[in-house]
Amino acid sequence: MPFKRFSRRQFGRIAGWSALATSMLSTGPGLAQLDEATGARNRKTSSGFPNDFLWGTATSAYQVEGAVNEDGRGPSIWDRFAHTPGTIADHSNGDTATNHYHLYKEDIQLMKTLGTKAYRFSIAWPRVFPEGAGSPNPKGLDFYNRLVDELLANDIKPFATLYHWDLPQALQDRLGGWTSRDTSKAFADYAAHVTGRLSDRVKHFFTINECSRLVHLGHEFGADAPGLKLSPSDVKQVRHNVALGHGLAVQAIRANGQAGIRVGPAENAVSCIPAIETPANIRAAEIATRELNAGYLTAILEGEYTDAYLAQAGKDAPKYTAEDLRIISSPIDFVGLNVYMPDHYVVAADNERGFTLAPFPKSFPHMKATWLRTGPETMYWVPRHVAKLWNVKSIYITENGTSGSDQPAADGTIYDVDRIMYLRNYLTQLQRATSEGVPVLGYFLWSLMDNFEWSDGYEQRFGLHHVDFETRRRTPKLSAAFYRETIARNAVM
Ligand code: NOJ
Repeated sequence: MPFKRFSRRQFGRIAGWSALATSMLSTGPGLAQLDEATGARNRKTSSGFPNDFLWGTATSAYQVEGAVNEDGRGPSIWDRFAHTPGTIADHSNGDTATNHYHLYKEDIQLMKTLGTKAYRFSIAWPRVFPEGAGSPNPKGLDFYNRLVDELLANDIKPFATLYHWDLPQALQDRLGGWTSRDTSKAFADYAAHVTGRLSDRVKHFFTINECSRLVHLGHEFGADAPGLKLSPSDVKQVRHNVALGHGLAVQAIRANGQAGIRVGPAENAVSCIPAIETPANIRAAEIATRELNAGYLTAILEGEYTDAYLAQAGKDAPKYTAEDLRIISSPIDFVGLNVYMPDHYVVAADNERGFTLAPFPKSFPHMKATWLRTGPETMYWVPRHVAKLWNVKSIYITENGTSGSDQPAADGTIYDVDRIMYLRNYLTQLQRATSEGVPVLGYFLWSLMDNFEWSDGYEQRFGLHHVDFETRRRTPKLSAAFYRETIARNAVM
């Protein structure tokens, strides 16, 4: 079964190594500027998180909405993929998902009970442009208008992601999807259309969710939609086109959005953790972070591909122009980071690269999903590296969370103490970061509720709320109470 062939663990390893060059080290700009980068805002509190820290939850369109045939929505590559036999572990799909499309008012009350003040959701491109481009669907934004209005009425800030992997199938069929830079341009047109209509109320937009996963699992290993297994050079071209789509969208959002609009990516950066926190290992982990993210985040923040990235790619390097790099590095307002697990523990080494990536012992702990290694310090190091390497002044943790077995006890309660343990430890590390001045402005827990976990179907439950997929009934797990208390105290419980 294709979904068994590549575990996320293998993916993390391969994605990391594929970006790794064999020579040419560079320190990158701003490496020694953490103090300047973070001292600009003195947001320290004696205990807990900064006073203006924003707590939220996150979901994405295909994983929660359902209603795939309603109000003129066109098919996406995930509809096609999930309906292809052998792709989804439990043979399910997102046709109905959690029915958020109809139950959003109830879901907003769940957010309110938690005390969250922000909600990250994604907009389904095929609802807005059923054919991917051309004539917009007149009803395409109706749902998002209703959702945004209801959020604001409940004092919850909307944070919209423009692309969470549900490419209109028509663009895959007509253009070859992200293998073509025409898709990057179509993405910018869609972004312009959406911001023109929503930015009176939505002030924060994420361009693309997890470039890294959509490129590798979708186009190299065939484990995510569109299920392709492309050559190394085509995979690198896809990554370049996605980066170009990000940059073109940033420009389109600024050109069409109202004043005060803020935009950035939401990336699962390859996470490089110093194995032991010595100055030499920390420096090695910074170098590794820059090189292992060279194809996307580094290019966005530096405006060029590193020498090491190009040297390692050799003849498979993407085709691009200087103008492309200028577009890719269009100024952004923040970096969104999805933080789940350590990809690499790094040890300083006297080699050309300056670091060694420690192999993971078989005994390394993980959560219910075997790919989800438990490494709370990831939540400290990833934002710290990003702030320091690139002098980034505003960061959001756009996702963090875990699946669990979530069995109800005899009294009916789901005592998900494994999720609480995970969150407590990751949030402790986030508090460590903010107390040192790393400029993390907010945190979006993945996820508000159980949902369609891509090729794992409904078998991996990431929610604070349990969803009964027969009745669509939502029930808070014990972790919902944990998160509510954390938010109320603005401190780790
Ligand atoms: C990251 C993805 O953005 C999200 O869609 C997914 O459900 C979570 N990780 C958990 O795997």
